[in-house]
Amino acid sequence: MIKSIILAAGKGTRMKSDTPKVLHTIFDKALLGYVIEAVNGTNLADENYIIVGHQANEVENYVKSNYENSKCVLQAPQLGTGHAVSMALPYLKDFEREVIILCGDTPLITSETLKEFIECHKSNNSDITVMSAIFDNPTNYGRIIRNSDGTLNSIVEEKDADIEQKLVKEINAGIYCVNWGKIKSAFSELKTNNAQGEYYLTDIIKWGNEKKLRVDAYTLKDNEEIFGINSKANLSEACRLLNRRVVKHHLDNGVTIIDPESTWISPETEIGADTVIYPSCYINGKNKIGSHCKIGPFAHLRGDVILEDHVKIGNFVEVKKTTIKSHTNACHLTYLGDSEIGANVNIGAGTITANYNPLTKEKSKTVIKDNVKIGSNSVLVAPVTIEEGANVGAVGVITKNIPAWALAITRAPLRVLENWVKKQ
Ligand code: UD1
Ligand code: CA
Repeated sequence: MIKSIILAAGKGTRMKSDTPKVLHTIFDKALLGYVIEAVNGTNLADENYIIVGHQANEVENYVKSNYENSKCVLQAPQLGTGHAVSMALPYLKDFEREVIILCGDTPLITSETLKEFIECHKSNNSDITVMSAIFDNPTNYGRIIRNSDGTLNSIVEEKDADIEQKLVKEINAGIYCVNWGKIKSAFSELKTNNAQGEYYLTDIIKWGNEKKLRVDAYTLKDNEEIFGINSKANLSEACRLLNRRVVKHHLDNGVTIIDPESTWISPETEIGADTVIYPSCYINGKNKIGSHCKIGPFAHLRGDVILEDHVKIGNFVEVKKTTIKSHTNACHLTYLGDSEIGANVNIGAGTITANYNPLTKEKSKTVIKDNVKIGSNSVLVAPVTIEEGANVGAVGVITKNIPAWALAITRAPLRVLENWVKKQ
């Protein structure tokens, strides 16, 4: 197995935020989480070293509580990307095999690309492979400088480039695969005689050439994958790009999505064919939606939602941590949280599962069995179970379990006072 080093020590000034850059989220998952999962998804790396610096504690807490195979290494002060990678040296003293190096702020990189990249490095018998990309506007990126025979010469940073080098459209994507055993001695030889006065990781290309190592570039097919986050504008753009990718995947699999631009679906949501998603839905977290369901318009799924086939979730319905069996409808203005709902159930408009006790701060479960009908504007105060086939009359406030096939009514009887208005 190989290792990865993920650079995440930088400040991210342009985010203008109290939150560390790599902990900003897309669909509630941190940018760094996307990168770690892309690496883990290759099944080729067994350990990730995350280089942390600014707000190191927060980043470390996130990594510790989410990714067992990832370890944070402190870089203080931050003296450049080459210096950052060298922080992993003490942990990889005896390691000789491949290491991939990435940045923590490029959440759109995919496992497939990383796999192909590593495979390319191996099949070329390279010692250093850098990922490159062709950009119409290469400004701010390091340029890939090639020799006249096409082989790699060096990487020159924008700030160090001359006019001719600035015209080069092939850029350094900032992802590398290296044979650690061959390159680990480079770090003690990097110099800071450049425009930024930093230890540049990019100098390992020139260094590798001088040491007669095999140095290659792998050209990225889809530039979107190295889209980097430096600002809130970049963050919303990345969110849109990821969403487009997810929507396309579902469209290709037979899901009808009426308006892709107003439909937000997290990457961890599964959807069966022939389900229709109406405009303006927000589907977040991990969910499994069956076939022939109708979702929205204006529905909010907040995660841990499992819908069997032929379920209808209509407008202004919010669902969280809830399982719903087939042919059940919740068509209007409803909140269903921490619930288990059977088949052929009708949830009337305005139904609320009152799952949260603000005094004890505890959440409790609502169980609704098959064939139950809940009248409009009812509140089901959890923990509560409505047994099979029971009906709840409109405006029911249900505070205890209702037996099978019973009718539960809690509203005051209607009084009609004849001519009351005229008498006033
Ligand atoms: C770097 C590359 C450039 C490439 C670009 C791709 C170098 C010298 N340049 O430039 O060729 O085109 O990435 O995006 O490597 N970081 C640390 N510690 C440090 C410095 C940086 O952890 O001391 C981290 C940052 O948090 C960031 C990443 O390394 O995640 C890249 O650093 P940044 O300063 O953004 O590099 P660029 O100037 O963009
Ligand atoms: Ca920099």
